Amino acid sequence: MKSMSVNGRVPLIEMTDVGKLYGNIRALQGISLKVGAGEVTCVLGDNGAGKSSLIKIMSGVHQHDEGSYKVEGQEVRFGSPREALNRGIATVYQDLAVVPLMSVWRNFFLGSEAEKGNGPTTQLDIEGMKRTAKSELLDMGIDLRDVEQPIGTLSGGERQSVAIARAVHFGAKVLILDEPTSALGVKQAGVVLKYVVQARDRGLGVIFITHNPHHAYPVGDHFIVLNRGRMIADRSKREITREELTSLMAGGAELEALSHELERSTDRSLAAVGQQLEAEAHELGIGTPAGGA
Ligand SMILES: Nc1ncnc2c1ncn2[C@@H]1O[C@H](COP(=O)(O)OP(=O)(O)O)[C@@H](O)[C@H]1O
Ligand SMILES: [Mg+2]
Repeated sequence: MKSMSVNGRVPLIEMTDVGKLYGNIRALQGISLKVGAGEVTCVLGDNGAGKSSLIKIMSGVHQHDEGSYKVEGQEVRFGSPREALNRGIATVYQDLAVVPLMSVWRNFFLGSEAEKGNGPTTQLDIEGMKRTAKSELLDMGIDLRDVEQPIGTLSGGERQSVAIARAVHFGAKVLILDEPTSALGVKQAGVVLKYVVQARDRGLGVIFITHNPHHAYPVGDHFIVLNRGRMIADRSKREITREELTSLMAGGAELEALSHELERSTDRSLAAVGQQLEAEAHELGIGTPAGGA
């Protein structure tokens, strides 16, 4: 097993047999994966599967207890998220760290403000920051009327999108998104999925965490499914159908049992919920993500 590459290049991220323990709780075991540039790697799994633990290792929040973690071919063990960021690994969390009453452009540059002048004449380059925020957002296809508006006035999907544009601007090579769509409705989720694809097309390696196979399938190039801390699948898109992904996610047999149960069920409301879910999935899958907003 000499093959080191994804698409003939050294992977941005490579994990081999990674394990993580919290005290004596084993959150992850035997995780081996590669993330390449210009592709979307989806990490799926039910609650408690270990998705957040995995990306916390990647992003320097936690350290692995077993195995090896390499970034662009180099063994790493990050002591903090800042260290990971310095290596180009940016993470966007579901509960974004934004200041709602601050303008979009201030949030865009929060913690990394641009300055002009030097020595005692140094001052914030406000006009420059506004201009840059506006043009970076436009480049990602995000057309805000006014970058002065408080970020709290944007929709959830737009806020996620600003965070993605920000990571791209500050030179991220790897963009990790932890459940960016799970709190959003179908349309808003579509908006975020569109920017996931944009980031990929700009050559980033995107790691998209979700427990929703219908959000993952349309945008993913590569799918990793976790179950109780172990990898139960690692497939490229052409190796898996949406149905297989859904069934793997739900733990195959369990899902089948559930669907039989639902079929037998005379409870109309339960059947209606099932239909609604199916319709939503359908809408997301068939309609392109670009159709959002
Ligand atoms: N800080 C922590 N301390 C102790 N146990 C944790 C901690 N974080 C996660 N776990 C446990 O590790 C397992 C995986 O959790 P997590 O990575 O959050 O899964 P997911 O993001 O897929 O829902 C769960 O059993 C969870 O309870
Ligand atoms: Mg989680």
